[in-house]
Amino acid sequence: MSTQATELEEPYFEDEAGQGLHPCDRARPIPRISIQAFCDDLRIAQALQHASVDRRLTKAHVSVHMGGIAAAIAHYSENPTPNLIIVDSELSGGELLSDLDRLAESCDVGTKVVVVGRHNDVMLYRELLKRGVAEYLVAPVEAMDLMECISNLYNNPETDPVGQVYAFIGAKGGVGSSTICHNVAWTMSESLKTNVTIADLDLAFGTTGLDFNQDPVQGIAEALSAPERLDDQLLDRLLTKCSEHLSIFAAPVVLDRDYDFSPEACETVIDVARQNVPFVAIDLPHGWSQWSKRLLAQADEIVITAVPDLANLRNAKNIIDLMKVSRRNDVKPYLILNMANLPKRQEISVREFEQALDLKVLAVIDHDSEAFSQAANNGQMLEEFNAKAKAVEKFHDVAMKLTRRKDTRSEKQNSRLSALAPILEKLKRKR
Ligand SMILES: Nc1ncnc2c1ncn2[C@@H]1O[C@H](COP(=O)(O)OP(=O)(O)O)[C@@H](O)[C@H]1O
Ligand SMILES: [Mg+2]
Repeated sequence: MSTQATELEEPYFEDEAGQGLHPCDRARPIPRISIQAFCDDLRIAQALQHASVDRRLTKAHVSVHMGGIAAAIAHYSENPTPNLIIVDSELSGGELLSDLDRLAESCDVGTKVVVVGRHNDVMLYRELLKRGVAEYLVAPVEAMDLMECISNLYNNPETDPVGQVYAFIGAKGGVGSSTICHNVAWTMSESLKTNVTIADLDLAFGTTGLDFNQDPVQGIAEALSAPERLDDQLLDRLLTKCSEHLSIFAAPVVLDRDYDFSPEACETVIDVARQNVPFVAIDLPHGWSQWSKRLLAQADEIVITAVPDLANLRNAKNIIDLMKVSRRNDVKPYLILNMANLPKRQEISVREFEQALDLKVLAVIDHDSEAFSQAANNGQMLEEFNAKAKAVEKFHDVAMKLTRRKDTRSEKQNSRLSALAPILEKLKRKR
């Protein structure tokens, strides 16, 4: 019997940047494997159902059944075993071990078994490992625990470098999403000295080449039209290197071509890119297609850029609401208010945005025609054009927040402050 997918209140994690490993980082995308689970407890079955619809498991094929280990033994005496069997059992140690021995008789070579039990017992754990059980989890377990466990079994951090993917999208067109994507990605590559790739998915009108003053190989369309051919060498040929740590996957920007790519093609291209660099920034056009929805749903983080007006607020809310459904185990998208504080324009305030969207705005970037237009026309990043421009600091903050690095600049400022603190304290007392 299969369980029905049930709507449960699942934790929708708030950001905990800078506080160690984020819950969302504990599990990485899981490869195309088959997973079958047999549960005694409906709550474990529901946790598995939640995991099965998570973005990290979209490639895996998951089926969940009730009946515990007895049902598993009966099933596999007649059917081949999948890559991974998860058994959730209420049995005590001795009974569990003898049933697992029976299950082992019908397990094909290469099948891994994970057991969810009720007893936190080291002796039992050792016995299970001796029998070749890949992992033992003690109930209660949540969807994220299960994904973390599966991820650890099938992702090898030594051999499978998997980069973080950040998707940037505008709540409307022309709100500065690409400008922010490029500046933040550039800042990451410069400050962290880590490789970053920008993938420009605005295939017809993308500005990545212009913004970096490059006449790039228009690689991304070629990759998308034959994703199965994309390997490390081809990727290397299709990328344009802008600086030591930054490469761009540039858009063709020609109009006599059709750009109807499948969501699968986009996903494959981004997967190959993320195998090669720690950070991939996707510059999405302000459009709504199957593939843009898929890329948003699959990204590690989403950054929505909005101008403080009503249409932007509505669109940002719609995107955030949709993502809540398809990304139950992830942090909410980040929101940047751009082109703010323009004199004489009536604007919706930061507080109103925060209340309506139930989140904290990540950054507010003022309208600054002078700096942005000149940097864009020069083909420079804002910091290259004018390191003192106000938005430079904001790009730095966003880059640190996304990569969950501590901001060394503000630390320095704090330490300077703390050195002065005793003197300031004395002065206050004198007064
Ligand atoms: N804070 C800002 N102040 C003034 N102009 C900006 C600001 N941010 C972006 N721009 C300008 O707005 C224009 C549109 O930006 P772009 O990044 O292409 O938008 P989108 O990708 O959302 O369509 C560009 O000319 C850019 O230089
Ligand atoms: Mg754009």
